[in-house]
Amino acid sequence: MKLVLIGFMGSGKTTVGQLLAQKLESEVIDLDVEICQQEEKSINEIFATHGEQYFRQVEHDLLVTNMNKDNVILATGGGTPLREDNARQLMNASVPVILLQASPEVTYQRLKGDSSRPLAKGLNVSELGAIKAKRASKYTACADFEINTDHLSPQEVVTQIEEILANWQVA
Ligand code: S3P
Repeated sequence: MKLVLIGFMGSGKTTVGQLLAQKLESEVIDLDVEICQQEEKSINEIFATHGEQYFRQVEHDLLVTNMNKDNVILATGGGTPLREDNARQLMNASVPVILLQASPEVTYQRLKGDSSRPLAKGLNVSELGAIKAKRASKYTACADFEINTDHLSPQEVVTQIEEILANWQVA
């Protein structure tokens, strides 16, 4: 593995992961995509049919499966670091775990109108902010680096990550 991206919904993990993969000529594994492919359902369908606990178990199993693959960028789901066993995996990773941050306002702007996320559907800025605040310590506990993406383009985030990687290799 090259690095792991973590962060709340709308923080840019998928977009940045894809851009970074192009730039570094490596593969990106997006945990949400893996879950949907394995289950042959959308995230909404998995939540509606089996419930969140089932989703979290599949997410955990696929995290373990994909955690130590060579040369890949792993984009996690917004809830991945919440489970203690997942957090342990992330903390023990030998590659940088990078937390993408966005303010509740920016998160809201990025997610509004999106109906693919069962836990964010129809929430306003303060409701999103409240969930994010509740999760904040779980995210930071797993992260080696934090990037605030509020005023950065995905390309600028990629540039910062490239710098992190260059220094990580030297260290
Ligand atoms: C979730 C985040 C989503 C997805 C699911 C639950 C969460 O991933 O895994 O809807 O609990 O924060 P993204 O962060 O990629 O949207």
